[in-house]
Amino acid sequence: MDLNDQTEWWRHSVCYQVYVRSFADGDGDGIGDLPGITGRLPYLRDLGVDSLWITPFYTSPQHDHGYDVADYRDVDPLFGTLADADTLLARAHELDLRVIVDLVPNHTSDQHEWFRAALAAGPGSKERERYLFRDSPDGTPPNNWESVFGGPAWTQVDDGPGQPGQWYLHLFDSTQPDLNWRNPEVGDMFEDVLTFWLDRGVDGFRVDVAHGLFKVESLRDQMVPDDAAPSSVPAESTTASPASSPAGSPASSPAGSMVERTMRDEPMWDQPEVHDVYRRWHDVLAKYDGDRILVAEAWTQGPESMANFVRSDEMQQAFNFSWLLADWSAEAFAEVITGTFAALEAVGASPTWVLSNHDVVRHTTRYGGGARGLARARAATLTMLGLPGSSYVYEGEELGLEQVDVAPAFRQDPSWFRTGEPGRDGCRVPLPWGGDQPPYDFGPGTGQPWIPQPADWASLTVEAQAADPDSTLTFYKRALAARRDQADTGGHVEMLDLGTDVLAFRRGPLTVVLNCGTAPVPLPPGEVLVASGPVTEELPGDTAAWLR
Ligand code: BGC
Repeated sequence: MDLNDQTEWWRHSVCYQVYVRSFADGDGDGIGDLPGITGRLPYLRDLGVDSLWITPFYTSPQHDHGYDVADYRDVDPLFGTLADADTLLARAHELDLRVIVDLVPNHTSDQHEWFRAALAAGPGSKERERYLFRDSPDGTPPNNWESVFGGPAWTQVDDGPGQPGQWYLHLFDSTQPDLNWRNPEVGDMFEDVLTFWLDRGVDGFRVDVAHGLFKVESLRDQMVPDDAAPSSVPAESTTASPASSPAGSPASSPAGSMVERTMRDEPMWDQPEVHDVYRRWHDVLAKYDGDRILVAEAWTQGPESMANFVRSDEMQQAFNFSWLLADWSAEAFAEVITGTFAALEAVGASPTWVLSNHDVVRHTTRYGGGARGLARARAATLTMLGLPGSSYVYEGEELGLEQVDVAPAFRQDPSWFRTGEPGRDGCRVPLPWGGDQPPYDFGPGTGQPWIPQPADWASLTVEAQAADPDSTLTFYKRALAARRDQADTGGHVEMLDLGTDVLAFRRGPLTVVLNCGTAPVPLPPGEVLVASGPVTEELPGDTAAWLR
């Protein structure tokens, strides 16, 4: 198949991730909201993206900032109303922007009516069968699994005097009880939720923890090598430091890279039964017009298991996290590209590239921070946008924002409270839109927003960068415009050998070159269409260019 097929919009779309609390504040309370997003949609259109994904805005006590859903069919008053969601969808569609919403099927909030009913109904009830409650006569957690956010993955409840309380499983925070997907009621509930939002006109769903819904039925212990006892941070799923790599991700593997990972025993992740769910959802979406999509957040063990999520009767997209996890090296990037195409071509799927999101350290900072980190981040982005397939960009990366060292008093990530590690707040700082001091026009309020913004962001605002031809914002606009101009470029990638430090590939008439080294390299023949930094006949280190 042609990986650059233009007939299905999602195969080549650039999607902008909106972290709802931090994009734009419509009402002045210092927290982003749906009217705030609607007001800034023209910005996204002018930036040149095709779609947006909005993180959860449903009713939630906000223990994990919306990834703890108490009502899947309503909008939390913090973010607006259902009418605001409808207005946002209508306005986005007028501007030719598709809208993907977040779906959180692995767990609910402990404030969801089902969990409250389960606590009230007690052991043995059908209400408890919607979650993973277990007895443990010896008073210890029913198995050795650990939460992605640190500590045991089990919490004991109080079942009244005279009996030991049952335990419930939570792969994340204790306020996020895992659902029992072996109970048909759960699947039926989520089909209703899909239908509710599809009827309102959403173009797709980003499926949270898509590899987690089913656990090995026995809930047996995780086998841990003798020399690696389970720690407060689970080996199977998360990170050496949640701040430096994603929650629910495998980035804590010793190699730190999915490409180099060895297989682990993961009875809680990536069980074959999850795929039956996505086949069912595929059929639900197919009943609607206009190519609605599912995109998997699945931190699987490698490209082959990622490809299982995008078989032709399952999801349309799965984030290719191996791209995000790759080290700054031409060899590592090349390995990811060839491995990705090999795995995806086998199932007829297109790749979905991503460098940053709300769970990982921003890629400017991952690549070293400062001028060098920014140069590398721009170069990696241009390379990504030159690849066939879809790309996701995370709010603020178009401004070159770095990870912020959020003061402990303002940290809100549940993993901070469970582990004492800095957590993910540093990539979630509200965007600077204009002005020369906080809150940088984040909203009509005058105080600091929910996470304080740095005092030195005045030169990074949208307003400041829009007027600067060399700014990162101007570079993103140029790159996205060039990508549209090259939309007819073929989907086949031919890797080129231009030296050890250089990643180069040809795609139809387009050549993409990334210099991961420090010494300049000669550019291949052709007209430079766009570059991530200044170029002559040579491509400096930490720079990428497209030629035609
Ligand atoms: C989301 C995280 C969230 C977790 C639990 C993830 O993968 O992206 O932000 O904390 O799921 O829902």
